[in-house]
Amino acid sequence: MPAKAPYHTVHAPCPRHNPSMMQTELDLFNPQDPLQPQWVGNQAVLLPGFALPQVQALLPVLREVVAQAPFRHMVTPGGLKMAVGLTNCGALGWVSDRQGYRYSPVDPLSNQSWPVLPEVLLELANRAAALAGFNNFQADACLINCYRPGNRLSLHQDRDERDFTQPIVSVSLGLPAVFLFGGHTRKEPTQRIGLRHGDVLVWGGEDRLRYHGVLPLKPGAHPLLGNLRINLTLRKAG
Ligand code: SIN
Ligand code: FE2
Repeated sequence: MPAKAPYHTVHAPCPRHNPSMMQTELDLFNPQDPLQPQWVGNQAVLLPGFALPQVQALLPVLREVVAQAPFRHMVTPGGLKMAVGLTNCGALGWVSDRQGYRYSPVDPLSNQSWPVLPEVLLELANRAAALAGFNNFQADACLINCYRPGNRLSLHQDRDERDFTQPIVSVSLGLPAVFLFGGHTRKEPTQRIGLRHGDVLVWGGEDRLRYHGVLPLKPGAHPLLGNLRINLTLRKAG
């Protein structure tokens, strides 16, 4: 995959959000080009490689976040230990324990605030959300999931946030994964979306509450992250 994503120069808003877009402009976007935005719902878009230009800046700040608030295996309300390691940065962090799922301003491991949400990430999420048709997205929470080979995330909806009009912006780093994007009920069929290092997926609006999950991570060796997949999900939680 080329190191440079085309998003600085090319905007491909969903025609639905930009009815004035002329047919000739649309024709410029070759659907076969793997770096072009791919709409996976009316208000859900995969931006392949969108985060690549920021990765060099992102990795050291993520290391600092994890040094302050290490990955841990939280317990579900049912008492099961989650296989995926997680931590947070931002004013609010997603936590799970026997009491349930919720957002907390405090890291229960340290009893301190979560690390600050790095500017490079806020800005990236804001630009990705805007491409998906969500202007002025200001994340206050970033959940950081760490997957190892074999780890999966079962189908769920993200419903712990206050305002469902705000989208979710998901940034994938490291090993590739298959994201399952379902419907508004658990039973509906799921689409499989390949998520690779540097890809950003945004879902909001009518797609905000769609069930989603991640298939078991395949073993591999990523040049920067080894045998890990790191996923950052940015949200307006409070
Ligand atoms: C999530 O649903 O919170 C994470 C999704 C992912 O890891 O891609
Ligand atoms: Fe989720």
